Amino acid sequence: MIGESFFSKNSKAALKKSPPGEWMPTIPDVCIRLNSGYPAPELVPHKELKEAVVRLLEEEQDLPLHYIGSPRLKKLRDQIRGRMAERSMVVSDEELLITSGACQGIDLIARIFLDEEAVVAIEAPTYMEALEIFQNYTNHFISIPVDEHGIKIDLLEKVLVDRKRDGQAMPRFLYTIPTFHNPTGTTLSKERREHLLALASTYDFLIVEDDAYGELAFHESPETLKAMDKEGRVLYVGSLSKIVAPGMRIGWVAGAKEFISAFGWMKKDLDHPFAHASMAAFLENTNFKLRLHTLSDTYKAKSSVMLSALEEYMPESATWFVPEGGYFVWIRIPGVDTSKMLAEAAAKGVAYIPGKHFFLDHSEGREYLRLSFSYVEEKEVIEGVKRLSRVLGTGPSSQ
Ligand SMILES: Cc1ncc(COP(=O)(O)O)c(C=O)c1O
Repeated sequence: MIGESFFSKNSKAALKKSPPGEWMPTIPDVCIRLNSGYPAPELVPHKELKEAVVRLLEEEQDLPLHYIGSPRLKKLRDQIRGRMAERSMVVSDEELLITSGACQGIDLIARIFLDEEAVVAIEAPTYMEALEIFQNYTNHFISIPVDEHGIKIDLLEKVLVDRKRDGQAMPRFLYTIPTFHNPTGTTLSKERREHLLALASTYDFLIVEDDAYGELAFHESPETLKAMDKEGRVLYVGSLSKIVAPGMRIGWVAGAKEFISAFGWMKKDLDHPFAHASMAAFLENTNFKLRLHTLSDTYKAKSSVMLSALEEYMPESATWFVPEGGYFVWIRIPGVDTSKMLAEAAAKGVAYIPGKHFFLDHSEGREYLRLSFSYVEEKEVIEGVKRLSRVLGTGPSSQ
């Protein structure tokens, strides 16, 4: 019989953890997609990418279509290192691995560091894809809440002190999105960043810094943990998905060379030379600072529109964090089960992500939801919030 009997023990265990019924219902096409954490379509540079691909093939002919050979493969590495250096993160060529998006980087990190005994520290809530990745490898989590200043480091310290006293294992690493967090939009304060690095040193664990939104600041990007790290404890995960195009699948991991060579060994997809060379060709003709300005201005304006609409239409009891960058607003509506409410919201033409999907313990996310202002146009942002408020009984009546 063709079926699960062929699966490995690990695969069976991993698949059992996310039964399909637990996943989100299909969102009808007519909905305003406040659920989508995607870049604004008009900011995805398709014309410039087309020009870059044509130029690449004219200049290099078949070279980027082989496994190796395009000089732009090395160029992309240098461009990424150059961009990191501009943000005070100087890494050598051996300290960088380009991956198929940040997600592959996170998966390689999990593959190298985790086994079923390993403990991982995570934020509650956290990026759901990362949560799923870690659950493929271990069941042992330390889950630390996030407030408006990011992960609560004093609580993390308390957990670490208690575990040490009780002879329990320390986490292999803490996975954090310290800047413009997904889903809460919050940013870890400078004091907490310093405290976190000190804890990693004292309790001997690594920090995985996911900086997917780090350059999308409405005012200024804070110094990264990687830039502040003096001991090589931070593995920096970067991505061009949110600032160029997610379909190019270009991300990277930067960290100590011993780790990077281990990730490189585990990475058996032979890279994506055509995407890498095309991206290098795009970047060589792009004023990236200007591009980031345009992106940040656009998302800042969209976030303001969403925040004003929330002020106007949400129930009194609802609360949210004001993002300083990134794509998201994280909302709490006391007494409302946002997962149950989604079907009605979708029927009224608006979609969001119920909070439960961002927590290891789904019950913690019951009253929360994530709205994304990045993908839809400003007028749809307003209409989406109005529709949501109608579901909650506080919105203007529909004509
Ligand atoms: C925090 C975070 N990390 C990583 C990613 C995925 O990045 P990539 O497309 O580079 O795999 C996302 C996408 O939503 C994200 O929110």
